[in-house]
Amino acid sequence: MAESNHDGAEEGDSQLLSTLPTRQGMWKPFFLYRGCWLTPRSVTSVALVQSQFTPRPDDVFLATYPKCGTTWLKALAFAIANRTVHPIVSGSGAHPLLTTHPQDLVPFLELPHRDVHPIADLDKLPSPRLLSTHMPPSLLPPGVPALGCRVVYLCREPKDVFVSTWHYMNKVGEGFHIDMGASFELFCEGMTLCGPLWEHYLGYWNQSVAEPDRVLFLKYDEMMADTTKHVRMLAKFLRVPFTDEEVSDGAVEEIVSLCSFETLKSLPVNSSGVSDRIGGMPMENSSYFRAGKVGDWKTHLTEEMAKRLDGIVEEKLRGSGLTF
Ligand code: A3P
Repeated sequence: MAESNHDGAEEGDSQLLSTLPTRQGMWKPFFLYRGCWLTPRSVTSVALVQSQFTPRPDDVFLATYPKCGTTWLKALAFAIANRTVHPIVSGSGAHPLLTTHPQDLVPFLELPHRDVHPIADLDKLPSPRLLSTHMPPSLLPPGVPALGCRVVYLCREPKDVFVSTWHYMNKVGEGFHIDMGASFELFCEGMTLCGPLWEHYLGYWNQSVAEPDRVLFLKYDEMMADTTKHVRMLAKFLRVPFTDEEVSDGAVEEIVSLCSFETLKSLPVNSSGVSDRIGGMPMENSSYFRAGKVGDWKTHLTEEMAKRLDGIVEEKLRGSGLTF
């Protein structure tokens, strides 16, 4: 989600950017593109995806607001969808998740930035494609809903999203410290990358209510509480349900265990090394695995901060049926 310090307005599409409202975000100026706050290069990349990406009816998109568990969802969906080609044989050491970072097993639509990394790379992938995105539904190419492409959306308790984002930015934003109080203010104002958070959540929530067979809406917190149930739900939605035989052989539990925070975090491929997945900003592979807890906000936010964010989120989501 973070980008290079060189990612100034001059590196985006300056003509497009000059037409957009702009404000200082957590670590650089953000631009409001069709209701969504993005960095300059993200605006350019998202605009290129909209105009150049060709969806296929059997594409499945894993959509998340940043820090809601994208890495986990990628691991789970990959393991579920590819379990015939890549069976999980305990102790064999052969599964791709043991040697490849989950972020690299399911490519992002808009990353690495499409100004330099061609969208045509996605055209080369065989069907059915598993792709991921941080874009709100309003910024996805219009062909995605029109063709009936399915979407799995994963959201998370907003206070935990804030805390996770703050830690992440302080870890990956080399050389600068982001003040918690100032970033909390921005978060409360909806001034976050891909924000406002509640607009992102509501966009997919409303689609899942209208088209439950096309958009599966999941919550990190519920998935942590009963991962097995969610893995079965995901498999059904991906149209590769577990057979009775697989269930009795423990295939569901094997996937849950392989994709667990503890397992993934401890693998050398995820705990060491640096990769550049954004374009111009190498990051430690370990930065995607921190605490992996529900309710970690309790150790970081004051009661007052928690109450304030709860109030804002409650008001923004009122009447939608979505609650936290
Ligand atoms: P914390 O910072 O609260 O620990 P994203 O993948 O969207 O960037 O989200 C990162 C968050 O998901 C981090 O939260 C990270 O620790 C957590 N996470 C990563 N892998 C996970 C897993 N396998 N199970 C549960 N949580 C995971």
